[in-house]
Amino acid sequence: MLNLEIEMPVQDLNNVARLLVPPSKGILAADESLGTIQKRFDSVSIENNKENRRSYRELLFSTPGLEEYISGVIFFDETIKQKDSNGKSFPQLLSEKGIMPGIKVDMGKIDLPNFPGEVITEGLDGLSSRLKEYSSLGAVFTKWRAEINIGDKIPSLNCISTNSEALARFAALSQEAGLVPMVEPETMMKGNHDIDRAREVTASVLQNLFLKLKEHAVDFSKIILKINMVLPGKDCPSQVTPDVIATETVELFKKFVPKEVPGIVFLSGGQTSVQATENLNAINQIKDSPWPLSFSFGRALQDEALKVWAGNPNNKELAQKALLKRSKLVSLARQGKYRKEMENE
Ligand code: 13P
Repeated sequence: MLNLEIEMPVQDLNNVARLLVPPSKGILAADESLGTIQKRFDSVSIENNKENRRSYRELLFSTPGLEEYISGVIFFDETIKQKDSNGKSFPQLLSEKGIMPGIKVDMGKIDLPNFPGEVITEGLDGLSSRLKEYSSLGAVFTKWRAEINIGDKIPSLNCISTNSEALARFAALSQEAGLVPMVEPETMMKGNHDIDRAREVTASVLQNLFLKLKEHAVDFSKIILKINMVLPGKDCPSQVTPDVIATETVELFKKFVPKEVPGIVFLSGGQTSVQATENLNAINQIKDSPWPLSFSFGRALQDEALKVWAGNPNNKELAQKALLKRSKLVSLARQGKYRKEMENE
């Protein structure tokens, strides 16, 4: 008898990372935890149960033509194990379209003891065996999010450094497991701070993060950096134009992000879909960036589709059209080719 066991090819992680950030595609973050999807479903009065979550994700992933604009999807633990109505696993469904499956592997945040208003992300214990499982389910990249809040006397250096340490340990374990880590420190836009404060905090986060990644011997050429744009807090009275956000963001990266990093992707972080698209477009009009500057939006890609669907199966096609339209506009923004008039076309 022939031994037909086929060795899986060892993935070149730099190659996978580069394939996640091609010129006209980006990543759909669909990795809302049970608590986060509750908030999203509450906004359109959908009951948060397993089947509703499954059918909503099936709607997103089975959108015809999604692969034209989307290179990868980030799943939540429950979702990576779910199937479409034909019995096909979600990772399989997406892989067949050429979309790479990824997985959120952190276990969410808890209060940081002794530091009121600050949080630390958990999930390192047992991570190595969970990574093996996710890899066997088809994941090729992973995500870990750290949340940094801005407020009166926060963030503390302890919060930044503890979260960076966890991000670095996560990244090292992912690379060891043959998975590309998407390292996500999110400086929150919640609050009334101005853009100078957002820049100062994001700078300190980036500086600390790359120090920790280096200490943990993480290969910078095999990660994706997922981060916030540099912008004023949501309640700041002095808001700024997309051009200012773009310049502040790219100039900051040039100071603190090593050139070997194969790509930087943005979260939308509470911006509206249109704002996130406009700002990404302005960022990509700056032509001398050493990195591909792409997207990994959750809300900015999904909000319109979720609203149209609202849990009614009859709205599925219209909701898919809304997702496809936003994905196309964001893809154009990724190339610096978006114009606001396109919103009404
Ligand atoms: P938002 O784009 O909604 O901020 O979500 C992106 C994400 O994955 C946050 O971890």
